[in-house]
Amino acid sequence: MECSFNPMSIEHHQRRFDFYPELLKSYPVYYSSAAGGWVVSRYADVNQVLTQHDNYSSSPQQGQGFGFATGVDDNATPEDMRRMQTLLSALPFRMEELANANMLVSEDPPRHTAMRRVFSAAFRPGTIASLEMSIRAIVAPCIEKMSSAQEFDLLDGLATQVPLQTIVTMLGADVGRVPEFKMWADELITAAGGAERHTEAAEERYGRALIEICQYFKPLIDERRANPGDDLISLVLKGQDSDARVTDFEVVLFVILLFLAGSETTTNLIANTVYQLLQDERQLQQVVDNPSLIPNAIEETLRFRSPVQQIFRKTTCDTELGGQTLPKDALIILMLGATGFDESIWSNPDQYDVTREPRRNLGFGSGAHACLGMNLGRLEARAALEAVIPELPNWKLAQPDNPMIDSFIVWGYQKLPLVRR
Ligand code: HEM
Repeated sequence: MECSFNPMSIEHHQRRFDFYPELLKSYPVYYSSAAGGWVVSRYADVNQVLTQHDNYSSSPQQGQGFGFATGVDDNATPEDMRRMQTLLSALPFRMEELANANMLVSEDPPRHTAMRRVFSAAFRPGTIASLEMSIRAIVAPCIEKMSSAQEFDLLDGLATQVPLQTIVTMLGADVGRVPEFKMWADELITAAGGAERHTEAAEERYGRALIEICQYFKPLIDERRANPGDDLISLVLKGQDSDARVTDFEVVLFVILLFLAGSETTTNLIANTVYQLLQDERQLQQVVDNPSLIPNAIEETLRFRSPVQQIFRKTTCDTELGGQTLPKDALIILMLGATGFDESIWSNPDQYDVTREPRRNLGFGSGAHACLGMNLGRLEARAALEAVIPELPNWKLAQPDNPMIDSFIVWGYQKLPLVRR
C-alpha cells in the first residue's frame, strides 16, 4: 500500500511532523505517485544519497528546489516552452549563456567541484569570522527597537534583517534596496514550492522578479569586473579559472542562491529557535541562565524544525536503497526534516532539548553539496540569539497560530508577532 503523505502538497506540509513517525517506521523509501518521486526519510538512507554522487545527481535541485529550469523539461507543453522563451529573451544575457547555465546547487562533479572552488573564495573561515562585528552591528538596532516596543514582529524586526542585510553587505549591493531584495526572494520561494506553483500567475511573478534581479546585478557585475573590490562578487570574479568558467548569468544564479539558500533559511533558523523557546519556559530559562547553550539550541532547531525540510536528487542508474530498487532517472525527494526524528540516531526525538548532546544533523545537507554558508548561518543565528534571548522572558507569542511561509520545502513563519508579558 502506498503511503498517503505527498511531500509536494502544501496541505500535507502544514502537518508534516505528524506524518514523519509513520514514514520512518513503515515507509522509509516509498514511491509517491502524487509527487512523482521516491520519498526517503531515514538518516542513513538520506546520507547515503547525499554522499553517493555517482548514483545520484543534483540536477533536479534547480527546477524542483528553486523553480528555475532553463533546460527543456520532458513534461513541458508548447505553452510552457513559449512562456520560458519569452522570459529568457527578456533577460540581459545571450540565449546560449542562459540555456547552458546552472546553479551551483544543481551541478554534479566534476563541474560542481570546479564551480564550488570559485564560489568558496567568498566563504573562507577567516572571511566569515571577520564579519562578526558587522553582523552584531546589524543586530544591535533591532534589539534596541524591541526593547522600547510593546509589540514586536520577530521576523520583520530581527530574523529577516540579519541575514538579508549581511548578504547585501557581502555583495556590496545597495542596503537601501533590502526591501526589494526581500520581495524578490519571497516571489522565487513561493513560485518554487508554494500553492500556486506552476500556475501562469506564479510564473509571471517569478519571471518579473528574475528580470529585475538580472537588471540590478548584471551592471553591478560589469562594474566589479572593471573596478574589483573585496566584496563577494569581486572575489568570485577574481577566482575564475579555466576549469570552471563561471558565466555572468551563473554569477547571478549564485546571488539568487544566496538570497534563497542563504538568507531565507537563516531567517527561519533564528525565528524557529525563538518560537521553540517561547513554547517551553524551562528550555528558555536554561539558555537565559547559560548562554553557552545557544549553539546547542541552534543545532537542536536544525534537527527538530529545520528550515529546509526537503531537497531533490535524481538516480543516474538503476540502484538499491533501503531495500527498494530505484530505476534510472527517478526523482528522489530527501526528507532532511524527517531524519531528525530517526530513533536510531536520537533518543526521545519528539522532545526539543537544548541540552541534547549535539550530533551531526542533516539540516545543512551532507557530501559535496553540504551547505557552503553553514559557518555564516551559524554565526548570524548565534549573534541574533545571543542578543534576543535575554529579552525573551519579557515576551510571549501574540497568537498561538502564525501564518506559515507558502512553500512545502521551507519550514518557517511569515510573521511571528510577540507581545510583552
Ligand atoms: C542557516 C541556515 C541554512 C540552512 C538550514 C541551509 C541549508 C542548506 C542545505 C540543506 C544545502 C544542501 C543542498 C543540497 O545538497 O542540494 C545548502 C547548500 C547551500 N547553502 Fe545553505 N543553508 C543555510 C544557510 C546558508 C547561508 C547563510 C548561505 C550563504 C550566504 C548558504 C549558502 C548555500 C550554498 C551556496 C549552497 C550550495 C552548496 C553546493 O551546492 O555546493 N546557506 N544549504
